[in-house]
Formats: sequence, C-alpha cells, structure tokens
Amino acid sequence: MMNEEHINQNDQEYPYQNIGLDLVRVTEAAALVAGRWLGLGKREETHRAATEAMYEALCQVNIDGYIVIGEEGRLKERTLLETGQRVGTGRGPTVDVVVDPIEGTNSVVHGYPGAISVVCVAPRGSMWSPRPAIYMDKIVVDGEGASALVPECMDAPAAWTLALIARAKRKAVRDLQIIVLDRPRHYDLIEEIRSAGARVLLRSDGDTAGSLIAATPQGGADILMGIGGVPEGVTAACAVKAMGGAMLGRLAPQSEKEREAIEAAGLSSHQTLTCHELVTSNQVFFAATGVTHGPILAGVQYHGNEANTHSLVIRGETGTRRIIHTKHGSLDKKVGWRY
Ligand code: FBP
Repeated sequence: MMNEEHINQNDQEYPYQNIGLDLVRVTEAAALVAGRWLGLGKREETHRAATEAMYEALCQVNIDGYIVIGEEGRLKERTLLETGQRVGTGRGPTVDVVVDPIEGTNSVVHGYPGAISVVCVAPRGSMWSPRPAIYMDKIVVDGEGASALVPECMDAPAAWTLALIARAKRKAVRDLQIIVLDRPRHYDLIEEIRSAGARVLLRSDGDTAGSLIAATPQGGADILMGIGGVPEGVTAACAVKAMGGAMLGRLAPQSEKEREAIEAAGLSSHQTLTCHELVTSNQVFFAATGVTHGPILAGVQYHGNEANTHSLVIRGETGTRRIIHTKHGSLDKKVGWRY
C-alpha cells in the first residue's frame, strides 16, 4: 500500500515510459492464479485469489495509481482493489486505473470459455467512473463500422442501426454477426436482430471480451450490443478507443434502487457517451490475459511448475497491439502465487 510520502514523490509527467509490458505482468499474475480455480465451483475463492494476485502485481508497477472503478460488491468482504485505493510504487505517472481481475468469474468457476483478466490505465482524471451505477447499454464496432455509429443508434430499432453498420462495412445485413449477452433483458433485442436478418452470437458472460472481438477487424463478430456492467463498459471503451473502433455507452439502471442511486449522484441515464468521452485521453493502455480459452486469447495452460499465457496489450497513443505468448517458469516464485 502507498503512503503520502510515496504519493508526493510523483515527479514524472505522463507518460514517461511505455508501461504496457508492466501491465501485462499484472493481468498475467491474476490469470495464472485464477486459472488454478478453473472448474472447482468456488466463485468467492476464485475471485478473491485473482484480486489478491492482481493487487500484489499492481503494487510493483511504477505508477501513482488511483483505482477509479474497483472490485467493491463482487466479494462479501472488502477487497484490496476497491475504488479509491492507491496502487503502484508511487514513483511514476499519476494515473486512473480500472481493474477486472476476472471478467467472467462464472466461466472460470464452471469451466466455460472466454474469461479474461483486465487492467486499464490512463492519465489521472481521464476515465469516467459513474459510481454508483451498475449497468450500461453498449454498442461496439470496429474502425470500419465506426462512421455508422451515431448517437441515434441507442434508441433506434436494431434494424436501422444494423443497416447503417452493414453499409459502412460493405456487408449484407444477413452477414452481420452480433454478440449479445445471454440474459432475459435482451430477449427483445435478440428478436429484433434476428427479425432484421442478422445473426446473434450469444455469450454467457464477458462483454469486455465481446467488445474486443467486435472492435477487432475480422475478429469473429461485427457488433456488440446490449446491457452489461459499467466497469466492463469503461474497460471496453479503453480497448475500443485504443484500437480505433467506435462505441456508444449509456447508463441503463436495472432496478428502481439503481435508478434512484444514479439520480441522487447527479448522473443521467439519458446521456449517450462515445468511447472518447468514456476515456478522454489517448494515452490509454489496455492489457488482458486469457484465463479460459477464447477466440482472441487462449486460456492459461499449466505444465507442472510451468505455464503458458496469452495476453494482449494495446497502447492508445500509437495504436500498437501486441499479442504476447509467455512461458512462465517456477510458478511457485511468482507474485501472488500460492497454489
Ligand atoms: P463478472 O466476471 O464480474 O461475473 O462479470 C461478467 C459479466 O458477464 C460482464 O462481462 C458483464 O458486463 C456483466 O457480467 C453483466 O452483468 P449480469 O451478469 O448481472 O448480467
């Protein structure tokens, strides 16, 4: 944990270095630990272990980090990665940090594909953190579809939006593939998409990972649509912005309690934001490591005291995307490794 002395030692302008690889070590640490809980049916333990590993790894990174969207509410107890927590050595740029030690905890717990570990960093004050909002409506496309994504898409019938995106991507609507989280709240949306003639790719969990797929040219889907978590909306925005895709997001309270809480906080569920408003700086980093197998990132593979991980790190300033296959030796000596 950092103290005031650490915080005051921050004399570096952002960005003083490319911290992408340091962030990959952070998501690798969480994924390596989380993967050990694969298929064991233990949700709390799985998430707790990944959170601790991510926190310990983040503490080694030379940033003066401030968690703007943390892990509160995901575990019964308070966690090390709550909103407001300071992370990093304190000897580096002052940054906002959004963490998701496991996106798709259920997928790890039950052995489904598509779980990833995620961390995003951007200069302090540049990430949207609409506490206490929980849910956000999202549409994500890649760079080719970006010109079609106008704010009206959030309220228009899906068929209208799909026609615009199809034209921008020079595709027939029937060739569009749309990722949607498999939730009862999306039954009408799914029906609308199918009625328009397009194809629905249902996901049990993981709309950051789904956004990554939609924002990746020839990534396996054209669009992500529907309501998921706010933290996942901000992490998706970091990736989409850094990749040159486009995204619209709008708070979408799913209960009266959530609606009242966001109104009391002065937030609006009518305002539609782009990825450039969800994260305002170009100097954004997105890092993710596969925990269970997915179309963009393979999951962790263990061989005795060794393991393989696959990660992605995207740097907004340059648009550089690195896919990193790491062979880890001596797992028992790794940060956060206790399993
Ligand atoms: P967790 O890993 O925290 O369980 O989140 C998985 C996820 O599918 C997110 O990707 C998504 O944004 C959110 O849950 C959707 O929330 P809900 O499961 O309540 O519909």
